[in-house]
Amino acid sequence: MRRKLAAGNWKMNGTAASLAELEALKSLLPADTPDVVICPPAPLLFRATQAAKGTSIRIGAQDCHMQASGAFTGDISADMIADTGATYVIVGHSERREAHEERDRDVRKKAKSAWAADLTAIICIGETLEDHEANNTLDIIAGQLAGSLPGEMTPTNTVIAYEPIWAIGTGKVPTLDQIVEVHDFIRERITTRYGAPVAELIPLLYGGSVKPDNAAMIFQAENVDGALVGGASLKAADFGPIISAL
Ligand code: G3H
Repeated sequence: MRRKLAAGNWKMNGTAASLAELEALKSLLPADTPDVVICPPAPLLFRATQAAKGTSIRIGAQDCHMQASGAFTGDISADMIADTGATYVIVGHSERREAHEERDRDVRKKAKSAWAADLTAIICIGETLEDHEANNTLDIIAGQLAGSLPGEMTPTNTVIAYEPIWAIGTGKVPTLDQIVEVHDFIRERITTRYGAPVAELIPLLYGGSVKPDNAAMIFQAENVDGALVGGASLKAADFGPIISAL
């Protein structure tokens, strides 16, 4: 049985006052709650882990450096993230790939550095609008999977998030058929490379404009095990119903 997971990526939003939303979320979690991860900005990580203590909510960072330590001004290592009590880290988000020119091999190294610190890596992949419109989605996804996933990936050290870039923050969501096609393809590719035992258990998330009113549609896809949610994770009143829809 694959675990279900709802991850909220606050991106560069929030200050200490925003942790009130995490507090509010606690009372909205359903009894049979799936795994819930909140990824606040780095300065809030420690306080978020304190606020989540005693609950099933886990805390994650939004990026880590590929090296364990050194002269990398402004960067944060996986060890530092683990030291805050966080247990997850997003790597390869399209906003990092684009704004920081991260390539697949960087993402792969970051995932390994996350694992070395005992963090679970949420590895993101997804195609641009241009590639989507040119019907290149599956080729792009195949290339990103081949380049971004380390060979030592397991269902416990990794979660894969498929986020079509054109759906992020736009309110546009692929059709259910498109979501099914890509997630089925990802699981097939993982089966080919890692074998059925890994592929059967690894959680696949969909991300891109997930909202309370479309979550149930998205979660109908058999190979979607949860969501990576941006904007709608900022308010407990929005994120709570998405979690309940899983
Ligand atoms: O990491 C989250 C995704 O980029 C989705 O963001 O839900 O605001 O579209 P969004």
